[in-house]
Amino acid sequence: PSSKVLQGRHIMITAGPTREPLDPVRYISNHSSGKMGFAIASAAIELGAQVTLIAGPVNLATPCGCKRIDVVSADDMLEACNSVISSTDIFIATAAVADYKAANVADNKIKKTGDELTLTFIKNPDILATMANRKAKPFCVGFAAESQNVEAYARGKLNNKNLDMIAANDITSEGLGFNSDNNALHVIWQNGDVHLPATSKAELAKGLLQLVAQQYNKNQAS
Ligand code: C5P
Repeated sequence: PSSKVLQGRHIMITAGPTREPLDPVRYISNHSSGKMGFAIASAAIELGAQVTLIAGPVNLATPCGCKRIDVVSADDMLEACNSVISSTDIFIATAAVADYKAANVADNKIKKTGDELTLTFIKNPDILATMANRKAKPFCVGFAAESQNVEAYARGKLNNKNLDMIAANDITSEGLGFNSDNNALHVIWQNGDVHLPATSKAELAKGLLQLVAQQYNKNQAS
């Protein structure tokens, strides 16, 4: 049927947080629930896509019909993406990847010693930018969770990371976004933008994918 606007397309989606180890028993992470990415995976399957969902540690059921790869750290997530990217038509990065990882992961449990503890962190790879700067690049969609100058920062990321589309959200809006069931998105691409008003992440995922399908098909035709 004509409603299957993503029929036959392979979509890779990252979702959830990453967990960066400090020693054998500790890690740093964030409160990302993975809900937006999982909602996009479900909606993409509904639209006829073949979906690979690369998930950090989350408590969510795998959407029916998608292939799921579980990962822990940003490095693991990058490796999984690298193994899937060559067959990917559209990449949607919703994961809240930790910006930094420990410079050295201690072999043994870090002991409680002085009153202060100093750890050194180094930058994690930018998974989305890495995928978007490949020679054979899929249609790349990023998310920008911002607390100020939302549109300006989002447009900056669209250009700096070489993306085809970015979905911006204002994390200061009460009851929306991170860890919530609802969100609102300002979806921006090179020649246009659309505001998707506050609703469930399931509805938002459908709206976003309609825009992705439109722009993807336009790019294919040109
Ligand atoms: O730069 P910032 O972290 O705000 O960019 C957010 C976008 O980039 C999201 O789509 C996120 O999934 C992706 N990202 C990534 N790898 C990182 C950092 C962010 O894929 N290390």
